[in-house]
Order: sequence, then C-alpha cells, then structure tokens
Amino acid sequence: MPATVAEAIEAATARYVDKNPRSKPLFEKAKASLPGGNTRTLLYAAPFPIIIRKGEGHKLIDEDGNVYQDFVGEMSAGLFGHSHPRLQEAIISAVKNVGLSLGATNPYEQRYAELICSRFDIDRIRFTNSGTEANLHCLAAARRYTGRHKIMVFRGGYHGSVLSFPSDASPNNVDLGDWVIVQYNDPDGVKKAFSENKDIAAVIVEAIQGHGVIPATVEFLKTIRDETTKAGAIFIIDEVVTSRLSPGGLRKLLGIEPDLITLGKYLGGGMPFGAFGGRADIMSVYDPSVPGSLTHNGTFQNNTVMLNAGYVGMSEVYTADAVELLNNRGEHMRRKLAEVFKGTKFCVTGRGSLMCVHATNTGMQPSQMTCWDDIAAVDALDLRKLFWLDLLDAGFWVQPRGSIALNLQTPEEAIREFIDATARFCDKYRALVALPNAS
Ligand SMILES: Cc1ncc(COP(=O)(O)O)c(C=O)c1O
Repeated sequence: MPATVAEAIEAATARYVDKNPRSKPLFEKAKASLPGGNTRTLLYAAPFPIIIRKGEGHKLIDEDGNVYQDFVGEMSAGLFGHSHPRLQEAIISAVKNVGLSLGATNPYEQRYAELICSRFDIDRIRFTNSGTEANLHCLAAARRYTGRHKIMVFRGGYHGSVLSFPSDASPNNVDLGDWVIVQYNDPDGVKKAFSENKDIAAVIVEAIQGHGVIPATVEFLKTIRDETTKAGAIFIIDEVVTSRLSPGGLRKLLGIEPDLITLGKYLGGGMPFGAFGGRADIMSVYDPSVPGSLTHNGTFQNNTVMLNAGYVGMSEVYTADAVELLNNRGEHMRRKLAEVFKGTKFCVTGRGSLMCVHATNTGMQPSQMTCWDDIAAVDALDLRKLFWLDLLDAGFWVQPRGSIALNLQTPEEAIREFIDATARFCDKYRALVALPNAS
C-alpha cells in the first residue's frame, strides 16, 4: 500500500497509461492541429485525456475498448443518456422529413417555445445555440430595458465560456469593466453592492453554483429579489443546468420569482441548445416589428433537429414523473455517498440528480461550503485526483473536479455499484483519506 497520496497517484497514473495505449498517440496526433490537443478546456486531462469512441445507453466505450458507466452526463446535457431510442427517432425523422438549414421561420420553433413557456411558467422565450449565448443575450436585454450597464455577478460563477468569474483560474471574459463581483451566498454583500452602485442593470446568479455544486440559500436569493426590485434592476437566474431539478426548474422548487431565466444543456435533446426568457415586457426588446429593437441573430438557433429533438425529449421523455424519479435517485445516491464518506476527508454536495464529490484537508462538511472560496482554502486536489483515477480504473466515468449529473438511462444497479466502488476506494486508501480522529 502506498505510504503517501503522491505515491498512490503515481501508481494509479501508471495503470491509467497502461490501460489506454491507443488514447495517448491519438492525443499526440491532435496536438498538431489543436492547441494542446484540445478544443474544450474542461476535458483536458494529464498525462492525456482518454479518447471516447462511442456512447451507448448509460455507458461509454473508449478507443481501447474499456467500458465506463457514465456519471458525468455531459455536465447535464447528457440527461437522456446516449442514443435514447425516442430521440434517435425524432432526430432521424427531422433530417428525413423536414430537412436541415431551411433559412426560414418553421413551425417547430413556435411548438417548442410554447412547451417551454408553459413548463417553466414564463411569458416569452428566444432560442440560442448555447447557454453562453443565452446569458449574453439575456444581459443585453436587461441593459436595453433598464438603460443601465453594470451587471452584478458572483465569485466562482460560471455563465459560459466568455462569462465566468472563478477565483482559481483565469477567465476569458468580454467586457470585464462592467461587472460588480460579490461573494456567493452573501446577502449582506448584495445589499452593500446595491448601496454603492446605483446603476446596476441586472443580477445574474446560479441557484446552485456549478463550480463545486454549491446550493444557494433561500435567504441569499430572496435578498437578490428584494434588492433588484427596489433598484429597478433585472433579476436573472441562470437555470442552464438546474432547470432539470423540478418540472418547472429549481426556482419553482425554491419559490423564487426572477424576471428572466436562462436555459441550456439537455433541453436540446442532445443537440446544441440555449434559450432565455421571462417577462413579456423585457423580452419585447427583441420584437423585430418594433423600430429600433435589439437584433438577435444566430444561424442555428431555429434549427430543425434541435427543435424536434428538444420537443420530443421534453414532452415524451423528461416528463414530470421522470423528473421526480431521476432526482429522487440522486437524493438517495448522495445520502449513501455521505454515509460512505463519514470519517474521511471526502464529502458530497448537491441537490437531486446533480452533485459534487469534494476532498478537503480538514474534512469540511457540505453545510460549511457556502462558496467556492471556503473550499479553495482547504481543497485536497491530490485526493480528488486519486478518487478520479481510482473510479475510472473501476469502470466509472467521472470528472477530475468531482461533479456528477445522473442520466435517465442509468439503472439503480449502476448507482449501487458506484457507491460500492466508492466504499472500496475509502477502504483501500483508509490511511490516506481518514480524518485524524475518526474511529
Ligand atoms: C450555469 C451555466 N451557465 C451557462 C453555461 C454555458 O452553457 P454552454 O456550454 O452551452 O455555452 C454553463 C455550461 O456549463 C453552465 O453550467
């Protein structure tokens, strides 16, 4: 048994390299045409990423034939699992019977817009190609509507590739000068920022911060609601990930009413997707029949495949019953993982089918994790890496940063196996992961 975490990681990395002889040269080849062999930063992994050949049901198969049970769920976009039969039909039917790239208004945009408006209880919606775009256009709407420019955001927040506010990585942002950055889950910080800035156009917030999967408190969100109302600013909840947590989204579960919401990920039925919507008076800034309205173009935002796959996914597959089942499964899984982690440096945060496994040097508990900076101070990066390598070796597709998004095709048995594998990991490395005073 390795005496240190570094030795354990070295041995686990050697196994990783041994098991993936085909991924390494493919990655080396990719470096000739992609910077660092990568086109999506989050998926980079040292010494090289495992190259996945295909997905089937709830499983992934890599270029070396290794099979994994998928617990990443494409960061929520993979909610339907891989190649869901009903979505396959919808996609093939759209390609065959409707056609691609019509360059015209089609009936599917109205049909899907109506479904989303009724499901998420919003007046109006516009589609985009990604969650990033949804947030950018949503902020543009808030600026136009209020005639103001500043946007309040939160440390650790992620609203897209060019719209993130991490404390531990360098963001690639546009227009940095106009942000008012406040600590997440800090109601007093929100009040103070409003008292110091009279010209805030909007506040945008994740009701569960994706970086660490840290739930917002109701008090925090209520404070944002109250302060935005007083200041005449627009309150936006980024539900790109969290809308899956109840039939009407997380805000409905929490009883918070923002002015606008943004959506993304799974709602495209596996196709690229984004949308933003809410109050009709605010969304009317995009009404093209009104002279001087904002333009919002995007070649693929009414593409027929996404509109059909998304519609079928939401009307036939991710029904209210399916939402309940999936999220109850997640609650059960998180409770079981918490039992397994007792007395160790690991814990798990989250809600419903979204969660994140953490490792800290102090054994910090979820109730103490109110923002990413709480965790960053004690983050045990090396233990997180060991967990990732060990679970991969045991046949579970997980992320180095620990976040998990369950998919609909994952059977209960796979969840039991994941919990057992986690228990084996804790037993195997007990001397390295146990808290000093744990019995
Ligand atoms: C909360 C949140 N907002 C927005 C986005 C951006 O979505 P996309 O990757 O589709 O641009 C993400 C993506 O992970 C997200 O987690």
